[in-house]
Amino acid sequence: MQPRSVRITGWGMYAPERVVTNADLERVVDTNDDWIRTRTGIRERRFAASNETTATMSAIAAKRAIAVAGLQPDDIDLIFIATLTPDYWMPSTGALVKEAIGNTTAAAMDVMAACSGFVYAYASADAYLRTGRYRHALVVGAEVLSRFLDFSDRNTCILFGDGAGAVVVSASEEEGGGLGGLEMTTDPDGAYMIWLPSGGSRSPATGGTLTRGEHFVRMEGRETYRYATKTMATSALRAIERAGWEPDEVDLFIPHQANVRIIESVAKGLGLPMDKMFVNVDKYGNTSAASVGIALAEAVDSGRIGIGDKVVLVAFGAGLTSGAAAIEWTADPRCGERAASVEPVAGVREPLDWSSVDPMSERLRELLRGGPPTPLEDVAPGEPEPVEVAR
Ligand code: ACO
Repeated sequence: MQPRSVRITGWGMYAPERVVTNADLERVVDTNDDWIRTRTGIRERRFAASNETTATMSAIAAKRAIAVAGLQPDDIDLIFIATLTPDYWMPSTGALVKEAIGNTTAAAMDVMAACSGFVYAYASADAYLRTGRYRHALVVGAEVLSRFLDFSDRNTCILFGDGAGAVVVSASEEEGGGLGGLEMTTDPDGAYMIWLPSGGSRSPATGGTLTRGEHFVRMEGRETYRYATKTMATSALRAIERAGWEPDEVDLFIPHQANVRIIESVAKGLGLPMDKMFVNVDKYGNTSAASVGIALAEAVDSGRIGIGDKVVLVAFGAGLTSGAAAIEWTADPRCGERAASVEPVAGVREPLDWSSVDPMSERLRELLRGGPPTPLEDVAPGEPEPVEVAR
């Protein structure tokens, strides 16, 4: 039977303990705190410890979202992991996360749409649930981008960070609420504006590709910036129109956190003040597919979203992809407190008879030298005090 509505019922996030400041980056690449803050709004980002992966971070964020929804892991019928930094090419990160959260029944898969991945995965979950065949879906956006960065390229390495954000999406017998308007676009004209050249079937990894650094993210920053400012505002507007709303009726936008200047330009394009835009790029940098999920969880937990609010998720990313979802919020934000009961222990299955794991390049190791990697079991939940975003 088709549900009357499909709603977000749980949310959660995980950020690695290790904070990497702009000053830390100054130690390994020719950059400075003032340039990074004024051009991007980023003050610091989190980098995964050597024993953390996209699957481990996804599992913790997922367990938090499931607890907030008041569900058990086996209540989840579908798992979508949006990521461009999976643990392996195969199996899917979704498969590892399914086992780690203690789920025995769900179908699990990964979604690749770069920074728009969370919006694409959420839209996919919504569509599956509307068929009436499934009751609860888990949507996670998670990245360990620090391991795909060239720390001698100041154009890219200062921008990105690691983390995971999750929601549970549920079929409901109650009328109204949930996804009201959706827009998704993919523009292959910009396919090579943000890309990772090697490791795929076009250019499998070899000694040569490694020497040339083709396993690292490459980006045309200025062109991407131009595309982002245009497409984010247009996508948000289309989703708002489809929901039958006016832009000034929206209570809060949850934009992809790439650059505070891009977010400011979207606000300007929509004719709205910046206090309608949720911003946490200062604390986490660009966490790609994780960014919208982390921002949504923080927005609800910090009291920025309440029952009945009109919320717009909007993202853009490599592909070039963009996506926007206009949502009427229905969940009680106080349920967020349930996440505190979840121990930050991941429990992801380790490979057998394989000991060649070495996630740290020389420069990444140098960056993280400030303190020993924190064992995952010891990672305490909780975030540092918010810092003011440079305007
Ligand atoms: N530190 C110091 N100086 C720098 C740095 C740095 N980290 N990076 C660049 N510069 C210098 C440049 O060399 C240049 O110097 P020059 O004028 O002497 O040549 C100057 O600063 C200006 O460089 P621009 O590239 O013009 O700087 P801009 O203001 O465009 O900012 C930025 C660059 C931050 C990358 C911006 O273009 C941007 O945010 N682009 C969008 C990127 C993005 O959002 N990507 C997200 C998609 S990612 C995904 O899907 C995975």
